[in-house]
Amino acid sequence: MFELQREALLNRQPHPDFEDLERLMVQVKKSDQTLTVTDLGAGSRWAERQRQVGEIARKGGSTVQQGRRLYRMAHYLQPTTILELGTSLGFGTAYLAKGAPEARVLSLEGDPQLAQLAKQHWNTLQIDHAEVRVGAFESSLPEALQDLQQLDFCFLDGNHRYQATLDYFEACLPYAHSGTVFLLDDIRWSEEMYRAWQTLLRHPRVTVSMDLFFQGLLFLRQKQSEQHFAVRFR
Ligand SMILES: C[S@@+](CC[C@H](N)C(=O)[O-])C[C@H]1O[C@@H](n2cnc3c(N)ncnc32)[C@H](O)[C@@H]1O
Repeated sequence: MFELQREALLNRQPHPDFEDLERLMVQVKKSDQTLTVTDLGAGSRWAERQRQVGEIARKGGSTVQQGRRLYRMAHYLQPTTILELGTSLGFGTAYLAKGAPEARVLSLEGDPQLAQLAKQHWNTLQIDHAEVRVGAFESSLPEALQDLQQLDFCFLDGNHRYQATLDYFEACLPYAHSGTVFLLDDIRWSEEMYRAWQTLLRHPRVTVSMDLFFQGLLFLRQKQSEQHFAVRFR
């Protein structure tokens, strides 16, 4: 746990792998391409609305700091399978995929146009071990889990609702093992999400947690006594 903190969470060293990815992010953040996006999650008050790609890149996905942390976690843990719920433009996926080049990376996204753009970004970045599946998590998650068979790292980053978060976590559990790591995004985004985080901390399969303030890590490690950490970033 301390090594994970030092190597992945508190490490601020730049890495050459970030360069082309972040160059592309800067470019996409300026894009004025307009999409009619269907948001199936709790992130929007509108089911369908016009949004600029640049705005989605600036507000709707992982920041550079969060992305670099995703990369370092994947690099440190070297999971063989990674599942992401919520692809958006594919930048979080790209950091994870670059950090774990041997992993099978599956990402789920409800909006087909976002999924298409994510694929284009991965092509540009020469990432060929990531795959996006289009559809509501409720239907795509069971099939994705069946395909993966084993879940090593799971990034829950879409549909920030209390019951949905708990349901996705429960659906993943049969495929999880003692070494599986869950990363939950936006745990303080709403009262509902904080409640979901608190509920999951008390889940009988969760033995260790790390509260990263905006995100939270859950571990199922069986040979470890129950511990809950809070990591402060300066
Ligand atoms: C916060 S964004 C994901 C950001 C991305 N993980 C990253 O790190 O850049 C959440 C995405 O989840 C998708 N989403 C939300 N609820 C969904 C659902 N129930 N089924 C499928 N996709 C959903 C949204 O369309 C949105 O693109």
